[in-house]
Amino acid sequence: MNDSRMPYAVAATVPHDQLGRALHDLRISVTDRCNFRCVYCMPKEVFGRDHQFLERRELLTFEEITRLARIFTRHGVGKIRLTGGEPLVRRNLEELIAMLAAVPGLDLTLTTNGSLLKQKTRALRDAGLKRITVSLDSLDDETFMRMNDVDFPVARVLEGIEAAAAAGFAPIKINMVVKRGMNEAGILPMARFFRERGHILRFIEYMDVGHTNGWRMDDVVTAREIVERINAEMPLEPADPNYRGEVARRWRYRDGSGEIGVIASVTQAFCRDCTRVRLSTEGKLYTCLFATGGHDLRSLLRGGASDDEIDAAIRAIWAKRSDRYSEIRTAQTAKLEKIEMSYIGG
Ligand code: GTP
Ligand code: 5AD
Ligand code: SF4
Ligand code: SF4
Repeated sequence: MNDSRMPYAVAATVPHDQLGRALHDLRISVTDRCNFRCVYCMPKEVFGRDHQFLERRELLTFEEITRLARIFTRHGVGKIRLTGGEPLVRRNLEELIAMLAAVPGLDLTLTTNGSLLKQKTRALRDAGLKRITVSLDSLDDETFMRMNDVDFPVARVLEGIEAAAAAGFAPIKINMVVKRGMNEAGILPMARFFRERGHILRFIEYMDVGHTNGWRMDDVVTAREIVERINAEMPLEPADPNYRGEVARRWRYRDGSGEIGVIASVTQAFCRDCTRVRLSTEGKLYTCLFATGGHDLRSLLRGGASDDEIDAAIRAIWAKRSDRYSEIRTAQTAKLEKIEMSYIGG
């Protein structure tokens, strides 16, 4: 469906990493700020009033981001996802969307918490954005507020989703992080609700990203358990991936009423086909969501490097890559000082 891979002749020229993986997806974090404080991502005790976020001059400008995006397309990158923090809190984001939408051959998309979606939908659409993913962890206000930790009501996210659907965004995907004892009672209500509306709900296993969320294996509700619960009420059958390396495993409702996805990064690692690279707000390149360090591209951009020089630097970084964190995760690795999800995006 959204397979925008390069034809083979071009793909053959793109670099492969140490495990033979090509580079295909670039995820760009446009801000490290967020108006939510989700307990599994930006716990208030760590991201409190005195937390130091990046300063404006440290952020890559829209021009710098677009220049890098163009260079990345030379490497076979066919998909760009904008993330954050919360991408819609970055001022004039629609200008960046318009600049990226003008780069040929890109599947451009965005992951948002939905809080500002209603007022931003039109501008995003007019700028050329075609599809969108909205995070929503519960339909129950009390549970959702406990998870976002800023008392943000469900209804306003739903209004954003409705506005996006009305503006023609398709498909709309909904991401639900499932945390044991927190929102697992919402699995079936969420499935019923979004099946009726024709949006693709994806359940994400709670992960040990960063090092501040106090992750424990006991808090993970496994993809298997999620599928079993839904299947018992609304029978499911497996569906083929849309493209090789797709993060979500797809399941179709047997009655033809739509599909769900499960993202089982903890219990069914998908590193073997991982074609993703992440660019932080301040221009560091990370070859894994669980990396402990990144590669500074901003100093190249601001130091007068040519496109070819930046291109060569990216190739060298990718060629050395051997990350496969989810395959080697243990209780010990979970405690490592990894970069935070709010800094690098999901
Ligand atoms: P499309 O197929 O383009 O719609 O996107 P996607 O399936 O990549 O979905 P999305 O980018 O929304 O990713 C969903 C969630 O999966 C993210 O928010 C992360 O929680 C998780 N995820 C995405 N990429 C990775 C990855 O490389 N490693 C791990 N461990 N988790 C990932
Ligand atoms: N585990 C799983 N998913 C997470 N996200 C943020 N933190 C975690 C975590 N610890 C998800 C958000 C959103 C996307 C940006 O990443 O819910 O959908
Ligand atoms: Fe913000 Fe998304 Fe992190 Fe929640 S998961 S705190 S909405 S960046
Ligand atoms: Fe890719 Fe790292 Fe996620 Fe594995 S853990 S899928 S290597 S980002």
